[in-house]
Amino acid sequence: MLRTHTCGESRLTHVGQEVTLCGWVQRIRDKGGMIWIDLRDRYGITQLIFEEGSTAAAVLETARSLGREYVISATGAVVERIAKNPNLPTGDVEIKVDRLEILNPAKLPPFLIEDETDGGDDVRMKFRYLDLRRSIVRKNLELRHQVTRRTREYLDSLSFIEVETPVLIKSTPEGARDFVVPSRMNPGEFYALPQSPQTFKQLLMVSGFDRYYQIVKCFRDEDLRADRQPEFTQIDCEMSFVRQEDILETFEGLVRYLFKTVKGIELPENLTRMPYSEAMRRFGSDKPDIRFGMEFTELKGADADLTSGKDFVVFDSAELVVGIAAPGCAEYTRKQIDELTEWVKRPQIGAKGLVYARVNADGSVKSSVDKFYSEEELKGWVKQFNAQPGDLLLILAGPADKTRKQLNELRLEMGNRLGLRNPETFSAHWVVDFPLLEWSEEENRFFAMHHPFTSPKPEDFDLIATDPGAVRANAYDLVINGVEVGGGSVRIFRKDLQSKMFDLLGFTPEEAQHQFGFLLNAFEYGAPPHAGIAFGLDRLCSLLGGADTIRDFIAFPKNNAGRDVMIDSPSTISQKQLDELAIKTVV
Ligand code: AMO
Repeated sequence: MLRTHTCGESRLTHVGQEVTLCGWVQRIRDKGGMIWIDLRDRYGITQLIFEEGSTAAAVLETARSLGREYVISATGAVVERIAKNPNLPTGDVEIKVDRLEILNPAKLPPFLIEDETDGGDDVRMKFRYLDLRRSIVRKNLELRHQVTRRTREYLDSLSFIEVETPVLIKSTPEGARDFVVPSRMNPGEFYALPQSPQTFKQLLMVSGFDRYYQIVKCFRDEDLRADRQPEFTQIDCEMSFVRQEDILETFEGLVRYLFKTVKGIELPENLTRMPYSEAMRRFGSDKPDIRFGMEFTELKGADADLTSGKDFVVFDSAELVVGIAAPGCAEYTRKQIDELTEWVKRPQIGAKGLVYARVNADGSVKSSVDKFYSEEELKGWVKQFNAQPGDLLLILAGPADKTRKQLNELRLEMGNRLGLRNPETFSAHWVVDFPLLEWSEEENRFFAMHHPFTSPKPEDFDLIATDPGAVRANAYDLVINGVEVGGGSVRIFRKDLQSKMFDLLGFTPEEAQHQFGFLLNAFEYGAPPHAGIAFGLDRLCSLLGGADTIRDFIAFPKNNAGRDVMIDSPSTISQKQLDELAIKTVV
């Protein structure tokens, strides 16, 4: 080894020992007679000291020639520091250097390699290998390593085996667009990159590998957001001879184990299970953040109508009138409320307007719709909301599903503004009983809400023929702090039911055979009952790390336009490559 110790190791117990450290020059302070250099590696920072008079002139000269991020090797005795630095684990000591070698000089980096850097997002992504030198970023990857290591440990202890599945496959219907790869040997034909290993893990169950997992790259060509990357990693799992309950227990166990071993946090023994319909009614979301209240209250809906017949057309014509009570916000100024109204009217949210009612300290109510509703009627609203003095009722109206989604956005925004979404507080729960199908207005047909291999609930089988939209699935999501961390389902394992499902989804028998013949055929050779789940590893890491973007936990992520600006990809390819692939481009 070129070094005897790392830059994070030296302590008072080493005083008097000669050590050789290697690393990057973080900072140089030259005070004339004395030079101090902070030397950095993955493990920490150690201070080097050079002193005119006692350090050899040649060594001093080399020290003076160093620049930031030079790679050096320094040898010398560990000495006790006079001015100790309590903020550094090595802060009690320094190295009195008597041999110094420049292993490689460095150009001046385009931004400061410090936690508080002056580099913007773009430049840091272009020079990601320098960004990764910053301890704040490095720690994220270390956390990710702990998560994968502990995952393997837990699943191994339960006899799961890790099996790799191919990356060049045929389209898997997970709801996003596929990335495709042209085949040179089969001109005009394409592989698809897996959106998940879904069909392969099911085939492994048919093969008898009754407990499978894989930490695996998945690829989806979809619009990107803070919690979405075009290539991301799943902890993908499948089990045979199990019921939904067994999956929930086993994987609650995994999540509990990860929180305990990686963060030292004990999650509750039995995580709450909330039916999808309840999540939508109470929070307008299939991934509600239940760290804070502000649950929905309906003024006009299935069970109440406190608004109709008072000539307020907006409410009279609405299918749903629903709101939240924002605590302590009754004192919002007109300007603040106007700003909030503009916020919900932005195209991303799409509300037509926002009705408010202040519940004043003296119990009186002041509302933007005072001219339609008497104080008595408004007090009826306050009662329905179970609101307290100081609350601000924020109310939206319109078609039920759409309005709930809009109010969900407003609830989360208010949660943020009121500081109720602390990243260090964790709340994990299951959402269960998802609908099997989702109706697409655009395509005028049903889509599988999870994927086409998901089993309907046996008690809803009869509805398949009469009211397919009402059929519930044995499907579940794990939600932490409002983030969908994982999802899965009990699978269909019989050919007749799977064929019926494809039929519901509008596949002709020929199309189903063409796209999924391999799976349908496999189901005829003794497929066991099976079920599974996949966790988004990147999302899990960003949650555990208290960050809101998964990019920070991926070594080399893509930007929001799906580009890797460091390697400049995607990029054009040569005409020769195109010819070999029998591809003509039109742009
Ligand atoms: P699903 O599509 O729900 O299920 O994906 C599982 C989990 O993967 C994560 N995830 C993503 N993370 C980052 N970027 C993305 N673009 C992205 N898309 C999904 C989410 C999600 O919960 N085959 C099924 C699982 C199963 O049924 O067993 C599947 O892929 O955290």
